[in-house]
Amino acid sequence: MKYRQLIRDGTQVSVLGLGTWPLGGHMGQMDERTATSITRAAIDSGINLIDTAQAYHPSETRLGRALKDGYRERCFLASKAIGDYSPAGIRAAMEDSLRNLEVDFVDLYQVHHPDPAYPFDQTMHALERLQEQGKTRYFGVSNYDLEHMQASFAAAHFHTNQTRYNMLDRRREAGVLPFCQQHEIGVLAHSPLAKGLLTGRYRVGHSFPDDDERAHLPRFRGATFAHYVGVADQLQELAADKGISLVQMAIGWLLRLPAVSCVLVGAKSPKQVSEHLAAADVTFTADELERIEAILENTSGELYDS
Ligand SMILES: NC(=O)c1ccc[n+]([C@@H]2O[C@H](COP(=O)([O-])OP(=O)(O)OC[C@H]3O[C@@H](n4cnc5c(N)ncnc54)[C@H](OP(=O)(O)O)[C@@H]3O)[C@@H](O)[C@H]2O)c1
Repeated sequence: MKYRQLIRDGTQVSVLGLGTWPLGGHMGQMDERTATSITRAAIDSGINLIDTAQAYHPSETRLGRALKDGYRERCFLASKAIGDYSPAGIRAAMEDSLRNLEVDFVDLYQVHHPDPAYPFDQTMHALERLQEQGKTRYFGVSNYDLEHMQASFAAAHFHTNQTRYNMLDRRREAGVLPFCQQHEIGVLAHSPLAKGLLTGRYRVGHSFPDDDERAHLPRFRGATFAHYVGVADQLQELAADKGISLVQMAIGWLLRLPAVSCVLVGAKSPKQVSEHLAAADVTFTADELERIEAILENTSGELYDS
């Protein structure tokens, strides 16, 4: 495993992080035993950043149990507040997460989404207070675009931004990533496999079970889905030429940028986690990067939201 700086005080984390949205059963069924074995397989293989959220219920409670037997001490545990970003709301969310996770503190506490209904300076000061109280070692934001970061950073020097970044949605390459690099804000890239579109597994006509969020996402239906399947097929050919899987290429490609500290990958089995590991060592020639650019030229982040 490789490690990169996440926090400007020099604290490093593994370049691959485990995203635990699927552990809550939101991408199809997941039993507790599998959730535990995924978590422990990740930590045993050197992944130390584990990301969860209040909104991923019951991921936090499952994770709390999976992190017993000494696993908690071996990881950098991150969670997020959702919904009410008033100081009182954030304090209550923090207590909820600590209770669910059965821990006294987390390593990183994040605000899940920007919401201008709550003044950014008050949200930041509430997070700072949680740090002073020892409930979180560091604090950060998630899905903040440039203007949200600028408004918040003026109030407090938050440590990280968790942002969607994958081959099909590159909108944060301008604005967000340069700002983070300039201010030493650690970047956690989420949805790196575009929730499965960048695995090459799904073919046109595939239907997801109703308890899988993808059954309800327009990008997994109709012409948009067909477009992405076509893009994934071309990328898969290139990955095969490199002797790696598309999954490994999609993750490794994000790490080509030094601004990215950690790629948060979701997994449904320990086997999937083991496939992710080699992505930490993937490198690209200039020619390969050009070929990827040419394939991605015909797609856009805006389409991803459709
Ligand atoms: N802050 C935010 O708003 C936000 C939003 C989204 C995600 N996140 C974070 O980022 C993490 C990652 O995103 P995500 O889990 O939504 O999506 P993702 O990492 O893009 O995709 C994960 C899914 O891809 C499939 N997959 C994973 N490894 C695979 C492999 N080796 N081979 C084949 N298929 C594989 C699995 O589903 P199947 O096997 O069922 O296809 C898995 O559930 C989340 O868990 C969460 O921690 C944060």
